[in-house]
Order: sequence, then C-alpha cells, then structure tokens
Amino acid sequence: MAAEPRLVLHDVRAGYGALDILNGVDLDVGPGEFVALMGPNGAGKSTLIKTIFGMTTFKSGQIHWKGEQIGGLKPKAILSRGIGIVPQGRCNFPLMTIEENLDMAGYIVRDRGIKAEKDYVYSLFPILRNRRHQLAGNLSGGEQQLLETAMAVLRRPDVILIDEPSVGLSPAAIGIVFKELNRLHAGGCTIILVEQNTRKAMEVAERAVVLRLGKVIWDGRANEITHRELGDLFMSGQIANRSAAPTSTERSHT
Ligand SMILES: Nc1ncnc2c1ncn2[C@@H]1O[C@H](COP(=O)(O)OP(=O)(O)O)[C@@H](O)[C@H]1O
Ligand SMILES: [Mg+2]
Repeated sequence: MAAEPRLVLHDVRAGYGALDILNGVDLDVGPGEFVALMGPNGAGKSTLIKTIFGMTTFKSGQIHWKGEQIGGLKPKAILSRGIGIVPQGRCNFPLMTIEENLDMAGYIVRDRGIKAEKDYVYSLFPILRNRRHQLAGNLSGGEQQLLETAMAVLRRPDVILIDEPSVGLSPAAIGIVFKELNRLHAGGCTIILVEQNTRKAMEVAERAVVLRLGKVIWDGRANEITHRELGDLFMSGQIANRSAAPTSTERSHT
C-alpha cells in the first residue's frame, strides 16, 4: 500500500482492561477529510479517539495509518507518526506553565524552530500569550482545551483527533477554535472531530459518522442527514421513516 495518509480501522475492538467498549468499529478516513464523529453520551467516541492514539486496551482488529498497522502501539509511537490528539477535558500538565506546555508539545516539532512555532500559536490564541507564565492548571476548562488545541496544532500533524473542543468555551473562543480547525483543514490536515454540538459540527464537517454502543451505525455526507434524523439515531439507533443509510462497511473503498 502507498504511504498515503489514510486512516483505516477494521473491526476494531477495544476497551479498558476486561471491559469491551468498541465492538467492531469500521472506519476509513482519507487524506484531507473533515469528519464529525457523533453519538449519544457513552457511545464510545472518546474511547475511539483514545484507541487510535494507543491509550486504551486494544483487543483485536486493525488500524492502518499510511499503510502501516498501528493498532496497539504506544501513544509516543503514534505521535511520532504525525497523528495529533486534543483529548477531552483538562490539560495534561496542569503544574507547568502554558509556555512549558507548549515547549513539551514542541519537543518533536519537525523541521521548524520551536520559537517560531510558539509565536505562530500565540498569534492564533493571544490569550495564551498573555498568560504564558501562569500555570496551565489555573486556566478555565475551556482555556485548557484551547491550550491542548494549540499544542496539537503546533506539531502540524497530518491528522488531528479532537474531542469536544467547544465544551466550556465562550462563543468567542468556540469561534476561534472552529476557525482554526477550518484553516488546518484548508491546509490539507485531516480532521476527526468529536462534537456534542451537532449543529456546529455539521456546519464545518463534510462527513458525519454516528457511533452508538461502540459501533458505527451511520456514515455518510453531513448534508445527507438532518438534525432530526441525527436525534433519531442517537435515541434509537434508527432513523424513523427511512430505510438503512450507508455505513462504512457498505461504502466502497479504493
Ligand atoms: N477509563 C475508563 N475506564 C473504564 N470505563 C471507561 C473509561 N472511560 C470511559 N469508560 C466507559 O466507556 C464507555 C464509553 O465512554 P466514552 O468513550 O467516554 O463515551 P463518549 O465519549 O461517546 O461519551 C462508557 O460506558 C464509559 O463509562
Ligand atoms: Mg467523550
């Protein structure tokens, strides 16, 4: 297989220790796609993101990235392959300053100087520049999400997995994050976005994937599904008055 930046999951089963959460996930994301990963609370969205990043118990199946099987590799190995993650919730290094967090992220910056990259993310998120010498743990939850986003962006990954970036953010901050996601996408970055705000997600994403009970139950173009139909899928796993929609297993791949 060519080294195309394509992320392909085949029958992925994963969870936490003996607990199974993902029950056979199939997903094929091509270079430059913008995918909204949606589903009810507890569907396994965060678990899926963490599994791609090697942060759960990988049971079986395959995850191919650029043609290489990466399922079950450690997070550090995943990171070095150009996959970036913005985890859900608070930042990883609360007892370090914002600047130190960015330095951590810059540890593996490819080809470019860390100072230029920090200037770049500070220009995107001025609030981080203003508070760069404060402890990251003293930021609000939303601001910590912004910091995590900045840390991922700083590495300029080929694909970015982002888990609920808008939670706890002010409308203005949400605007900044989504604008930056759009810009990243325009620059060729593949984006897999988990977002509770389905309206916002469907505005920016081209493709909608719905997860329920650890399985993909809908996979199609974002403009092929209405908000009401999404609600039906979340609630019952089915769309009222509509025959089955395509899922990734039925889509034909090249
Ligand atoms: N660290 C963990 N250990 C054990 N179970 C977990 C852990 N994290 C999440 N779960 C469980 O996995 C299921 C899916 O959770 P999650 O992936 O966070 O769902 P979502 O992001 O779709 O809301 C839930 O039942 C949740 O309780
Ligand atoms: Mg989640």
